[in-house]
Amino acid sequence: MRHPISSLTKPLAVTAFVAALSVAGLFNAQAQSTSPTLYEQLGGKPAITKVVHDMVVNVAADNRINHFFAKTNIPHLEKELVNQVCEGTGGPCKYTGLSMKQAHKGMHLNTADFNALVEDLQKSMDSNNVPLGLQNQLLAILAPMQPDVVHQ
Ligand code: HEM
Repeated sequence: MRHPISSLTKPLAVTAFVAALSVAGLFNAQAQSTSPTLYEQLGGKPAITKVVHDMVVNVAADNRINHFFAKTNIPHLEKELVNQVCEGTGGPCKYTGLSMKQAHKGMHLNTADFNALVEDLQKSMDSNNVPLGLQNQLLAILAPMQPDVVHQ
């Protein structure tokens, strides 16, 4: 009859071996299958902060829409936008600002206003060398917000 200990030691040894490989990064199924998030591909929070800031600079110089921002607390807006983009692209942030409907209520924004802001974002992403594929992925995250932003 096999000693109960020996029937335990084998699986334990195998487990320990797999764990060691996993720690060594050789047998880490998760690390192998997980592709980088859009957040990571964009360059994380510093890169997103720069893109948002440059977008706001573009908006401030954009006579089509800058009047909407005349009384806006710009540092607060930038902080909220960074958290929103960070969270939306899979980053470790939490957006705690207003809903898109609440934030734009009473502004009566139209599609042209929306497209102008998107252009200002694209300009910022271009100047920060964000590859077109990543630009489109970010725009695809923002596009569904349009109905909550315009005609409110
Ligand atoms: C997908 C497009 C958009 C997104 C993701 C977005 C996002 C945001 C966010 C996160 C805030 C801050 C909310 C808060 O304070 O809690 C905000 C505020 C604001 N947004 Fe937008 N926005 C978009 C489109 C637009 C457009 C097209 C305009 C005007 C052309 C605009 C004008 C404003 C203004 C003026 C504020 C500040 C309101 C205030 O002073 O409190 N937004 N937006």
